[in-house]
Amino acid sequence: MCCISSSVHLLHPLLASLCTPPLSAIFADFAVAADINRLADELSIPFYIVSTTSARFFSLMACLPDLILESKSLEDSSIQLPGLASVPISNLTPPFITPDHIFTAHIRLNAQFLSKAKGILLNSFDWFESKSIAAWLDGQPNESVVYVSFGSRTALSKEQIRELGNGLERSGGRFLWVIKTTKVDKDEREDLQDLLGSSFLERTKKKGLVCKGWVEQEQVLAHPAIGGFVSHCGWNSVTEAARFGVPILAWPLNGDQKLNAEVTEKAGLGVWMRHCGWLGEHLVKGEEIGDQIVQLMQDKTLRIKAKKVKEETRKAYEVGGSSKKVLLEIIENL
Ligand SMILES: *[C@@H]1O[C@H](CO)[C@@H](O)[C@H](O)[C@H]1NC(C)=O
Repeated sequence: MCCISSSVHLLHPLLASLCTPPLSAIFADFAVAADINRLADELSIPFYIVSTTSARFFSLMACLPDLILESKSLEDSSIQLPGLASVPISNLTPPFITPDHIFTAHIRLNAQFLSKAKGILLNSFDWFESKSIAAWLDGQPNESVVYVSFGSRTALSKEQIRELGNGLERSGGRFLWVIKTTKVDKDEREDLQDLLGSSFLERTKKKGLVCKGWVEQEQVLAHPAIGGFVSHCGWNSVTEAARFGVPILAWPLNGDQKLNAEVTEKAGLGVWMRHCGWLGEHLVKGEEIGDQIVQLMQDKTLRIKAKKVKEETRKAYEVGGSSKKVLLEIIENL
């Protein structure tokens, strides 16, 4: 590793002389990220990190600069990593708990340059190493996390996404934010870092988890850590929130959603940010979003009413309940 570091300057003249075709990017192992970052900078081309380990171990390495493992006794059962199931201390490679070990120091150094890379290529796939949102939620106090999702079909504008991020940060609370950046069935081209800025992700990483794409929403809403739901009021979202008694901050965007928001409010399941308008009508500012989220999470009356809705929902689908009866009648007629 030291040899590579001390020889990397020799690469510059060689690579700079390759002009037909010119270099367009460097792909390099994580172990040389710091050196390659410098080289790529000098050549004004992007670099990518190629990982040869599991996403889980890679995440551990990426978090290493922030983990203070030396102060942990080996009896401490596990460590928490954002977005991952906890890692038992006994599964850590021994150098990681030896602060001045050369291997650990080397990883710490290189991990600091990960955010400079244009991308990270991992040899894995989503299903095999799915990010465990439930594991992240397990680490949060009951009813402390606001869940933010506008469904799988609607993408907010970039400006509105930034204001929403600003609002979440201002609220000072915990959040789980599922971002949809493009229309359904299209590629998720926008990178979260480009969209929100790496400093936002850095500042909020202790309190917030931002993810893209699909989550098991029912599992999220059923989790005791969830205390509020910023929702577009798609009907599935409303009924799922009702089932688990999660108070809604309604922000309807199109179609049936304003009427669904009326129902939500009337039932006592939520409050409605009425003046937000339809999707794209105006930009809702971070200050306001932050205030509304704080109010939502502190509203004890609303929480009690939402629990009542949960109770009524249960009554409707249990034996003898109104919904159950209708279904049974239909089946009987058939
Ligand atoms: C959190 O909620 C769960 C499920 O409702 C409950 O079993 C647990 O006792 C609660 N924890 C605290 C600290 O209130």
